[in-house]
Amino acid sequence: MSRRQLHIGLSLTPTWMRGAAAWGPGAPEDRDPVAFHLRLARAAERACLDFVFKPDTLAMPPARAAMPRALAGLDPTLLLAALARETEAIGLVTTLSSSFVPPYLAARQIQSLQWLSGGRAGVNIVTSIEGAENFGADPMPPPDLRYRKAAEFAQVLKALWKSYPAQALDEAGACAPIDHRGEFFEVGGPLNVPTHEAGPPALFQAGASETGRDFAASVADATFAATPDREAGLALRTDLRRRAAAHGRDPDSVRVLPGLYVFLARTREQAFAEHRRAHAHLTEDARRAAVRTVLGLDLGALPAETRIGPEMLPPDDAPVRSRTHADLLRRYIVVHRPRVDELLARPEVVGSAHWVSVGTVDDVLRDVFDWFEAGALDGFIALPGGSEGSLHLFLEELIPALTAAGLFRRTYDGTTLRQHLRLG
Ligand SMILES: Cc1cc2nc3c(=O)[nH]c(=O)nc-3n(C[C@H](O)[C@H](O)[C@H](O)COP(=O)(O)O)c2cc1C
Repeated sequence: MSRRQLHIGLSLTPTWMRGAAAWGPGAPEDRDPVAFHLRLARAAERACLDFVFKPDTLAMPPARAAMPRALAGLDPTLLLAALARETEAIGLVTTLSSSFVPPYLAARQIQSLQWLSGGRAGVNIVTSIEGAENFGADPMPPPDLRYRKAAEFAQVLKALWKSYPAQALDEAGACAPIDHRGEFFEVGGPLNVPTHEAGPPALFQAGASETGRDFAASVADATFAATPDREAGLALRTDLRRRAAAHGRDPDSVRVLPGLYVFLARTREQAFAEHRRAHAHLTEDARRAAVRTVLGLDLGALPAETRIGPEMLPPDDAPVRSRTHADLLRRYIVVHRPRVDELLARPEVVGSAHWVSVGTVDDVLRDVFDWFEAGALDGFIALPGGSEGSLHLFLEELIPALTAAGLFRRTYDGTTLRQHLRLG
């Protein structure tokens, strides 16, 4: 009998390098960013992970200026195309914004990546929070409009991916136009890249507002989730399964993959010290400003021990940068009435609201086991933090421990991303 197993991806963001001596403009990674990413992808492939994953923004946020320049904004799909030729089995999940990129171009790029990688392509469709100034639309259109556009974008992508069947390579005339006429796009088709025998590329999605969840439930094979605690993970997964069924899909068809910001060391003390060091640059002022940005709540000079309750929250329909992140922080305040200092330490405030696990391999293993048994995830996307040692412990000790516990594969039993993710 085959037991449910985890699906694990590695984010190709150098999260563990913050504070490292070599970090910053002019770092060695600048000289050869492809070699740097390839080193990570190969290590992830040795650990038999399902995929590597590259997030993206079509803008230059100020924080990027502190990174090695070449890591700041390389086009993720081009980068993964380079990795495709140097790896053999690992899935390659890129990011594309449905708010800015035309669907014909997107369908063609991702279907090309499917061919370049022998069926290992996936794409995270994001509606984006920033970048409008680079596409003639400033400020960003409202979220509901962005999601309507994303839904149509995904529909066009799927139609284009079917429009040129592989057998048309042999039999002339088997491909057909899609003649899409919608609210946002007019696309004739067919695509000029044929289907691949591995099936269509895997569709990921990120964003968990009401409309984001509906989007995920209607088309996504996987969702990249921000779930700072187990209850948030369980609530999201339960809700997405229910919504998928309401869309006539098998509830198992959307894999819920939270980001896992993991700090591993030989001792708990070292791991917590690395966690503290990684957050040391976030001053109290910066944390208070983050609460304002995420939630629209001004803590002013409220003392650390003041409790924050639901009565202090701004109206829940006030515009925010990301509804996902605002709702997570609202929920935490409603349920816990935290003190100001507790609030300022939360993942929703100091990070991207991802689940944080800090400790030894055994500690983190217990955490992952706990979330899995509770039904709060189908796997996760790892963001190793702290030091490169944390990344090594993750790939070389935590993953084998998950395998030994029967929760993860020992070797690849397929060659395509759809096979790794067990997608039909
Ligand atoms: C976990 C997570 C990862 C995301 N990654 C990206 C990204 O790489 N690039 C991007 O432009 N937007 C990214 N987004 C933004 C979403 O696509 C979306 O625009 C935003 O969350 C607002 O949607 P919401 O109203 O559903 O929260 C991400 C969101 C979440 C929750």
